[in-house]
Amino acid sequence: MKVLVIGAGAMGHAIAELTAIYGHEVYLVDIKQEILDQAISNIKWSLEQLKNKGTIQSGEEILNRIHVTTDLSSVAAEADLVIEAISENLELKAKLFETLDKLCKEEVIIASNTSSIPISKLALATKRPEKVAGLHFFNPPLLIRFVEIIGHTNVARTTIERLIEFAKSLAMDYVVLQKDIPGFVVNRLAIRGFLEAMKLVEKGFTYEEIDTFAKKRLGYPMGIFELADFVGIDILYSVLKEMAAAGVKVNIPKLLEEMVSSKRLGIKTGAGFYEYGFKLASKNIRNERIYEISTVRFLASTINECAWLISNNVCEAKDIDKAMKKGLNLPKGPLEFADEIGIDKVVSTLKEMGGEGEYFPNELLLDMLSKNRLGKKSGQGFYSWKYERYELGNILYEKRHDYAMITMRRERKLNSLDEEMWKNLNEAFTIAAKDKEIRAIVITGQGRAFSAGDDISVMEKWKSLNEGKEFFERTIAPFVLNLLNYEKPVISLISGIAYGGGLEINLLFDIVIASDDASFALPEGLIGAMPPIGSTVGVAMLGRKLLRYCLTGEQFDAFEAKELGLVDIVVRKDQLDEIMVEFLDKIRRVAPLSEKAIKRSVSALRNLYLNALLIGTEELSSLVATEDFKEGMSAFMSKRYPIWKGQ
Ligand code: NAI
Repeated sequence: MKVLVIGAGAMGHAIAELTAIYGHEVYLVDIKQEILDQAISNIKWSLEQLKNKGTIQSGEEILNRIHVTTDLSSVAAEADLVIEAISENLELKAKLFETLDKLCKEEVIIASNTSSIPISKLALATKRPEKVAGLHFFNPPLLIRFVEIIGHTNVARTTIERLIEFAKSLAMDYVVLQKDIPGFVVNRLAIRGFLEAMKLVEKGFTYEEIDTFAKKRLGYPMGIFELADFVGIDILYSVLKEMAAAGVKVNIPKLLEEMVSSKRLGIKTGAGFYEYGFKLASKNIRNERIYEISTVRFLASTINECAWLISNNVCEAKDIDKAMKKGLNLPKGPLEFADEIGIDKVVSTLKEMGGEGEYFPNELLLDMLSKNRLGKKSGQGFYSWKYERYELGNILYEKRHDYAMITMRRERKLNSLDEEMWKNLNEAFTIAAKDKEIRAIVITGQGRAFSAGDDISVMEKWKSLNEGKEFFERTIAPFVLNLLNYEKPVISLISGIAYGGGLEINLLFDIVIASDDASFALPEGLIGAMPPIGSTVGVAMLGRKLLRYCLTGEQFDAFEAKELGLVDIVVRKDQLDEIMVEFLDKIRRVAPLSEKAIKRSVSALRNLYLNALLIGTEELSSLVATEDFKEGMSAFMSKRYPIWKGQ
C-alpha cells in the first residue's frame, strides 16, 4: 500500500518509519526540507538501533521505501491512505483536509493523528466525511503498538474496517471508538488521573511523591507528571479545553495555563513539571507518604468517566481496559481495578469525594450497585468472575475468581475462636489449598475485631489437664500444622482487636496489613494461661522483643506491631481493601512455581519451631489445671482486667 504521511515531526516521522518497516511505500511530507532531512536522519538512527538488536535485517531497504517531499501535490494522487500528523491546530488541519480532498483519489481514506481536535470537524472540511476518521497513535509508535480508531456520525463502516486492516498490517493492536469524543479514550481517562494528581498537589504532596505513588502502588511505568511532561503540557491543555468546550465536567488548573503561556511544555522545551537537560538527583520518597494517598480515591473519577463512556456507547469495558493497558502501558485497566475493589466501594468513594461534578456517580455504577454487580466480590461486575460462597458456621469462604476471601464472622463475640471456628477456619484454608485457580488467600475479621483470640468461655469449662490438651489436639493443632505447611500466600487484613490467638495466627500468615486502629496484645499470662504460638514461633521469628508482650500482656498499637515485624504495613482503615488489591496484584506477578518453592522452603523453617510449639502447648495445658488459671479465668469472666474492658 502507498501511505502518505503528512507532518514529519515527533509523530509523523515515527509513523512513516513504522509503516515502511511493515512493507508499505511511504510518502513523507512537511513544509521545510530541513525538517524532512532531520526526520530521515532520525529514522536512519532508529533503524540502525533496530538492526543492532536484530529486529530488522536491512535498514537500507526500509529507508528506500520512504520518499520525502515538500510538494504535497506531487504525491497526493499516488496515495492509497493518508495519515495526517501536522501541528495541532484546527485551522491548519482543516485547510489541509480540504486540499487533500481535492488532490487524493476518491476512494482514499484520510485519517488524522490528532490528540484533541474533533474528527467530525475535519471530516466536514472535506466532501468525503464518510472516509475521514481518527487514527490516534501513541508516542513512540514503534514501542506502543496500539492505536485508537475513531469514528464519528458520518463515518462509513468500511472506513473503520480498512483502518483496522491497516493497523493489523503494522502488527498494532487497536480499539474502535464509535463516537468522536474529546480526548478519545486514553487521553480522556489519563486526564482524570492528572486532575486528581493536581488536587493532591493542592493538598501538599510534591510531584515526586505523587509520581512515586503512581509507580510504586499503581504499577504505572511513568509518574503522572512525568507522563504529562512527556506528552506535552500544550497537548494536555488543548485536550482539556476541548473537553470543557464539549461540556465535560473538568476544571482546567490555572497552573497549566501559566505553563503553556510561559512555554514550560515538558521535555520538548526542557522544562515542565520537572526540569530537563541535567540529571535530577532522585529524591528519596518516604513510604508512609505514598501510603497516605488512596488508590480508590485517585481512580474513582477515572472509573466514573469509564462508566460514562460505556453508557454513551463509545466503547465496551474490555476496550477501555485494553486501551489504557496498551496505550499507557499500565499493568491493569481501570475497570479491572473497579471490579477488584468493588463497585460499592467506588460509589461510596465518589460520594465521599463530594458526589458532584466528576464525582457524581454515573447511572451505570448505581445500576450495577442495585443489581449487586459489585465485581469479584459478587462474581459479576464489568466482567464475569468465578465466584463460590460457603458459609462454614461463622466462617465465610468466598472464592473470588483467583483468590479466596476468608472472613471470621462471629461479630458479637469479637470473632473469638471457639472449637467450631477453629475447625471451620481450617476447613476454609483446606478448600482454598485444593482449588487450583486460587492464587492467594486473604483472611479478615468482620466488625470491630480481627479476632479477640481463643474463646475463653470454652477454656473456663475445662476441668482437667487432659481436656485442654484434647481441645488443642482437636482444634488448634490441625490448623497450625496446615498453616505451617501451607503452599499458597496468605494475606491478613487486621482492623480493630487482634489479641491472644487472634494475634498469634498472624505469625503463620505471610503478609500482614493492619489499619491504624488495630490493637494487639498477648494477654494470656494475665489470666493464668500463656500464648503458645507467640512464645515459641513468635519469639523465634520476631526475636526477643515479642517476649516483653508475652510476659506483660501489654497492649500495643499497629505501629509498634510494625516495628516488631508482626505487621508489614499500617494504613488507614478505609485503605485496607485497596492495599489488599495491590498485594494480590503483586503476588499474581510472581511465577506460581517460584511461589510454591518459596513457601515450601519457609515451611521447612517454620517446622523447625514445631518442637518448641508442642512444648508450648504442653505448658499451656498444664496451666489449665492450676488455681491461678481458675482464678484468672473467673476474674476475666467478671471483666476485672482493664485490658479486656469495653469488649
Ligand atoms: P510536531 O510539532 O513535532 O510536528 C508537526 C509537524 O507538522 C512539523 O514538522 C510541522 O512543520 C509540520 N507541519 C505543520 N503544518 C504542516 C502542513 N500544512 N503540511 C505539512 N507539514 C506541516 O508535532 P507532533 O508532536 O508530531 O504532533 C503531530 C500530531 O500528532 C498532532 O496532531 C498531535 O496532537 C498528534 N499527537 C502527538 C503525540 C505526541 O506525543 N507528540 C501523540 C499522539 C498524537
